[in-house]
Amino acid sequence: MDLELRNAAKEYLLRYGGDSFPNLFREARGAIVMDDGGREILDFTSGQMCATVGHNHPEIVKAIEEAGRRAYHLFSGMIPEVVARLAKQVATEWMPQGLTKSIFINTGAESNEAALRIAKMYTDGYEVLAVGGSWHGVTGGTSTVSFASDRKGYGVPPPGIFLFPEPHSYRPYIKGMSAEESALQCLEISLKMYDMASTGKRAAILMEPILSAGGVLVPPRSFMQALRKAADERGMLLIFDEAQTAFGRIGHRTGAEMFGVTPDIMSLSKTLGGGLPLAAAVTRPDIEQNVFEKGFSFYTSHVSDPLPATVGLAVLKVLNEERLVERSRETGAYLRNALLELQGRHEAIGDVRGEGMLLGIELVTDRETKEPALELGRITTEKCFEKGLSMNIKRRPERGSVWRIAPPLTISRQEIDRGIAILDEALTESLDIAARPSHRQSA
Ligand SMILES: Cc1ncc(COP(=O)(O)O)c(C=O)c1O
Repeated sequence: MDLELRNAAKEYLLRYGGDSFPNLFREARGAIVMDDGGREILDFTSGQMCATVGHNHPEIVKAIEEAGRRAYHLFSGMIPEVVARLAKQVATEWMPQGLTKSIFINTGAESNEAALRIAKMYTDGYEVLAVGGSWHGVTGGTSTVSFASDRKGYGVPPPGIFLFPEPHSYRPYIKGMSAEESALQCLEISLKMYDMASTGKRAAILMEPILSAGGVLVPPRSFMQALRKAADERGMLLIFDEAQTAFGRIGHRTGAEMFGVTPDIMSLSKTLGGGLPLAAAVTRPDIEQNVFEKGFSFYTSHVSDPLPATVGLAVLKVLNEERLVERSRETGAYLRNALLELQGRHEAIGDVRGEGMLLGIELVTDRETKEPALELGRITTEKCFEKGLSMNIKRRPERGSVWRIAPPLTISRQEIDRGIAILDEALTESLDIAARPSHRQSA
């Protein structure tokens, strides 16, 4: 371990929020990352939920080498052959019917910005309905429609953003109703309020098919259908942000496919690049034609760049060759069973939820009151890391203490067993620490 480098990181890097580790990191392969001491850590979050095909998959390495031989970057008006190939594959093999026109850019925030710009120009409106607990990025437009992040301190958001309550299977907003009834009631009330407040300049309804940062919340199918209807009735475009849900993560090609609801625009990112910065917004030809005629522009330095597109093609190849969509369902069921078994032995696990290989575990101090176990989440996550397992916890008093578990789809059952054993041990030890009177006072 190089102490000087650790100090350089402290001295020269701007801190950008979220949890970070004291260690530096050196390498990553498959489901394993290695720190600056050469210690191997099992990665239960696929990096930042991107490396679905595993870290540094040989096909990705090969793709980067190939782009090196051909081209990394071109003038944005020159469409590389690989971009045409990727656009065709995304449209014909992965998207729901009708979504065939793509723009390829780099980050999730960018693809959502593109989707919002398309929706605004198409409808000539600006109002956007977004859901509580959402996360769509940190750029100017996307941060104003994100509600799982901190919004304080960044100035005045634009007008026209409306919020509706997130469907929550574990903590429905309306007491005494089923989660589904509560979600539908909340939506109906929100739409009535929105209709009262609207200036008539309606643009879009934006939603992640499974809210990830919001706590791995899977909406009822009826809710997604109601959103489709709400958009149609109001002449708004429905946008699905499938940064995390597309390309196999949830055991389906997309969230749209899982719910049987087709949006007007789909935003793709993390799981398309498999760890490299590739994103896309995909829409119908009639919408594309409409905004094209109005002069639509989303001209960036790296739009249609060949390097990430070559990687995107490699990701799709690996997903097909290694049957990762099916494997996500199979391995996801195995992982979920292991977590349910853990829940059977640990009272602190209040809920296990999610789809495929995007699972959430909610920690509570009491299963009756569902009081979030924030401190327990913190200590256990730290202990997991000490023992060689990287876990991502979202801890907010209003949203609970939830681990997002999203390992690479290529992870082996032995690796899952190892991760679960570490989690079990870490949780047992942390429960012991959290229960000590001295700790309760200081926490
Ligand atoms: C659902 C969703 N949308 C958008 C984003 C933003 O993507 P990026 O960080 O690549 O801008 C994220 C990132 O976590 C996300 O989870």
